[in-house]
Amino acid sequence: MKKDKTTIRAKREGYKARSVYKLFAINNKYRLIKKGDRVLDLGCWPGSWLQACLRFKAFVVGVDLRKTEIDGAETIIGDVTEGSVLEKIESYGEFDVVISDMAPNTSGRLDLDTLRSYKLSARAFVIAERVLKKNGNFLVKVFQSRYTDDLYSTVRKKFSFAKIYKPQTSKKRSKEIYIVACGYKG
Ligand SMILES: C[S@@+](CC[C@H](N)C(=O)[O-])C[C@H]1O[C@@H](n2cnc3c(N)ncnc32)[C@H](O)[C@@H]1O
Repeated sequence: MKKDKTTIRAKREGYKARSVYKLFAINNKYRLIKKGDRVLDLGCWPGSWLQACLRFKAFVVGVDLRKTEIDGAETIIGDVTEGSVLEKIESYGEFDVVISDMAPNTSGRLDLDTLRSYKLSARAFVIAERVLKKNGNFLVKVFQSRYTDDLYSTVRKKFSFAKIYKPQTSKKRSKEIYIVACGYKG
């Protein structure tokens, strides 16, 4: 398959994936992650968001089903839906920011894929509620669907500010959006 411009740029600049530019754009706009923050990155493989967090001079812990190796980042291999993985996450203490770029393996059936994506993003929110500091920030990817409004309004109630963000670098046919939420009320 022909590589698109953003993928080529990521490779040239030493990033593991094109998705790094989405986090840069979101962080430029909303200042979610600041120097010295403790960040939890859910669905971190191949590691471009971990690389971005290190550039922001944050301490970052990543979790993924797949092994991810980025110098300077802590990683946990596992399924975030499992209690034992949540325990490992909690052993790191509280976080200033929780970010999730998790995506299910797509089946090509839109209804099934959007439901799986919703379940992962809802799980990310459950984890965020367990580990976020008061006034912390949350970012979560979800495939747009009839479930999105529900998730958005649930998240919004718990933060001082929330917004839906559609990155410009998303592939044209992509249904992904991000919920950006700042100022966790605890
Ligand atoms: C789009 S990729 C993340 C890309 C990453 N943000 C980066 O920039 O390098 C989505 C990841 O979510 C992970 N994932 C999906 N379901 C998961 C689960 N239940 N637990 C942990 N990770 C999961 C996948 O293994 C995949 O690596």
